[in-house]
Amino acid sequence: MAERQEVVFIDGVRTPFGRAGEKGMYWNTRADDLVVKAMVGLLERNPDVPRDRIDDVAIAATTQQGDQGLTIGRTAALLAGLPKSVPGFAIDRMCAGAMTSVTTLSGGIAFGAYDLAIAGGVEHMGHHPMGSGVDPNPRFLTEKLVGADALSMGATAERIHDRFPALTRERSDRYAMRSQHKAATAYDAGKIQPDLVPVAIRSEAGWALATRDEALRPETTMEGLATLKTPFRPHGRITAGNSSGLNDGATVSLLASEPAARGLGLTPKMRLVSFAFAGVEPEIMGIGPIPSTEKALAKAGLTIDDIGLFELNEAFAVQVLSLLDHFGIDDEDPRVNQWGGAIAVGHPLASSGVRLMIQLAAQFAERPDVRYGLTAMCIGLGQGGSVIWENPHYDGSRK
Ligand SMILES: CC(C)(COP(=O)(O)OP(=O)(O)OC[C@H]1O[C@@H](n2cnc3c(N)ncnc32)[C@H](O)[C@@H]1OP(=O)(O)O)[C@@H](O)C(=O)NCCC(=O)NCCS
Repeated sequence: MAERQEVVFIDGVRTPFGRAGEKGMYWNTRADDLVVKAMVGLLERNPDVPRDRIDDVAIAATTQQGDQGLTIGRTAALLAGLPKSVPGFAIDRMCAGAMTSVTTLSGGIAFGAYDLAIAGGVEHMGHHPMGSGVDPNPRFLTEKLVGADALSMGATAERIHDRFPALTRERSDRYAMRSQHKAATAYDAGKIQPDLVPVAIRSEAGWALATRDEALRPETTMEGLATLKTPFRPHGRITAGNSSGLNDGATVSLLASEPAARGLGLTPKMRLVSFAFAGVEPEIMGIGPIPSTEKALAKAGLTIDDIGLFELNEAFAVQVLSLLDHFGIDDEDPRVNQWGGAIAVGHPLASSGVRLMIQLAAQFAERPDVRYGLTAMCIGLGQGGSVIWENPHYDGSRK
């Protein structure tokens, strides 16, 4: 019988996130090369990790074809120069792909099957626009298994505004503006850059180096946001300003069993406490992190008041607000997305889960007074995912 083990998050890095499309910085860069860049960057800054001791590599992508196909966990591992003895595979849970890579490999570590593992995700939404190549079973609509809105994420976000009238466009816009401003402040203070792996990019102008997220809009104002169109519904509330955008990017993380980390002299940045996924009505998929967070808290024997830092994926401002309202947390609570979120830095679908963990880990290091943190996100077709982490730097001064 394999020995049960604690799971720790050793490190995580990501590429800067690009704006999807022909004008975006990664238009001429392959999706798998983004993963490889991130993986090489992760290994370079962890030189003491014996490459041949890595037991598995899981990389998520929502679209698993072309430069995101061919079992990308395996192909990226080979391309990154890992020994051929290191296996790998691909994962898909749409926006929570990378989060599911982490929880899946963590399950393997906890079970004693793995000691070291690499988990991450990628989405090149320029090369693989959302929904491209999909062929939904007609039964979904003919048998009314889901409403037509369920397949358009923007439309599902409009439905959250419908269901909770207290969540106004004004609140969504204000939340979005603050996300942009918090990200700008974090960049100015050099908080985001240490975990970015620069990527060489080629355009008509020649070669350059991508060193920061491309879609940031630090100049965002309430007045500017108020003028934006509502592409998902006439007179709706969801705009390009209060949604995450369409982006390209990759993330990777190194996970370990606690004994392996100790044996190899690796310093954990976070300890896994619990995780949970949950399903909700697909037409309002954005509320998914509410039940998944309740499940994860219950499994951990914690309450929401025990969480000192939140990293919530901002697919849409309104869906973050729905979670905050549910738990009685103020829109401007300083524990939430201190360095901004996906509205500002971008949301390359299957990569984002690990971005949340990278930022939480960096904040844990700064905040020894905080014991627990939450990473959570909504997922297409009506799901939520939540992972609770413990701060190894916790000094016992406060919860
Ligand atoms: C909302 C969405 C359709 C907008 O796409 P888009 O039109 O290509 O977005 P753009 O970046 O071109 O922005 C549209 C306009 O808003 C403006 N804009 C965007 N953000 C702004 C901001 N913060 N402040 C002021 N203006 C802003 C842009 O300048 C642009 O203006 P223009 O039309 O005058 O050029 C797209 O981003 C989207 O689908 N987002 C959701 C992604 C998603 O569903 N992800 C999965 C989540 S589950």
